[in-house]
Amino acid sequence: MKNSKKEDIDMINVAILGYGTVGSGVFKIINENNSHISRRAGDEVKVKYVLDLRDFPGDPVEDILVHDVDIIMEDKDVDVVVEVMGGVEPAYTFVKRALEAGKSACTSNKELVAKHGAELLALAQEKSVNFFFEASVGGGIPIIRPLIECLTVDHIEEIQGIMNGTTNYILTKMEDEGADFDTVLKDAQDKGYAERNPEADIEGYDACRKIAILASLAYEKQVDFEDIYTEGITKITTKDFDYMKKIGASIKLLGIAGKSDGKRYAIVAPFVVYDDNPLYNVKDVFNAILVKGDMLGDVMFYGKGAGSLPTASAVVSDVIDAVKRHGYTAKIHWSSEKRDIVGADSIATQYFVRISGDADALKNKIEGSFGQVEFIESEGNGEIAFITKVLSGAEFDKAAAAFDVVSRIRVSK
Ligand code: HSE
Repeated sequence: MKNSKKEDIDMINVAILGYGTVGSGVFKIINENNSHISRRAGDEVKVKYVLDLRDFPGDPVEDILVHDVDIIMEDKDVDVVVEVMGGVEPAYTFVKRALEAGKSACTSNKELVAKHGAELLALAQEKSVNFFFEASVGGGIPIIRPLIECLTVDHIEEIQGIMNGTTNYILTKMEDEGADFDTVLKDAQDKGYAERNPEADIEGYDACRKIAILASLAYEKQVDFEDIYTEGITKITTKDFDYMKKIGASIKLLGIAGKSDGKRYAIVAPFVVYDDNPLYNVKDVFNAILVKGDMLGDVMFYGKGAGSLPTASAVVSDVIDAVKRHGYTAKIHWSSEKRDIVGADSIATQYFVRISGDADALKNKIEGSFGQVEFIESEGNGEIAFITKVLSGAEFDKAAAAFDVVSRIRVSK
């Protein structure tokens, strides 16, 4: 493969950085589906090294396990480095070194890609190798390659995605079983669907990195994840879901990149999703990403957004792609120039709102502040619930200031 065009069948050596959930999946897939993968790649693909700080006595990886990354970086026969360690460092340093050494790099690491994607793509271009990251968004779901290779005709008008399996599982259980957030989170942790430290998932940080990557690819310029308004699911209650049943809707944690009043925005937050939206039926740990193109219309990508083999399957597809390119770099439009996006104050949506107090006494005051709203039957439980007209974040805050707001959730288009 390397930096020259070759016609002969060759041995492609892969090094895997990190033998965790995804790394062990990559090792297994390359070994178990080897003849198929090698035929598709056009060259024989072999795992030459696995890097990890730990030892794995008795594991098939034992003979090729190394603890020193220099062995991989200095071995000219390593063609592709698979980075599946997670976190920005040392992943960033290792991937940069690999690209500088003329090796292609494939990663599932959304923190790395969101922060350094543009720079690493430019470096790959300079070195005539490839930097691929299909698994960094949506795990095993093909979304990056369709976006950059198939939907190239369209202007991407909007991307809406359920991009975090843990939170989708929690929200589904709250909706279907009426269990509260803390109980479902604990159950998810016991089943291994949620981390012991679940913050990155439940506070929306994981989904934020993923929508930052998709927005950067759709807008072709760097969207900084730090600029994306991010709200998690910790304030969602079973009572919110009771109202959703009355209006034929659900609540999903969405990452959205779109336009509001002609200005680009990105946001991660819980959204009310009506049953005519294809994302409504995406349940449990499944992910789905709905892309709206100006020519194509809507297209949705659905599948397993996490897990060892689904995620590793996407990583190995990147390895095959890198091998097939024989030293030609894929043109991926993502410049490091910053794409400014507007903040939550300027994002216009409808809102689902619950306000504490006597419903009859509040109705006129609510319409005085919010304008015309659609009230939802609340069964006299000391509160009133309604859906607003489309309001910017700033307009909503102004209208809501005079009330005791129990809950407010944006409504997806
Ligand atoms: N914690 C993530 C999720 C894993 O729940 O979707 C994949 O990024």
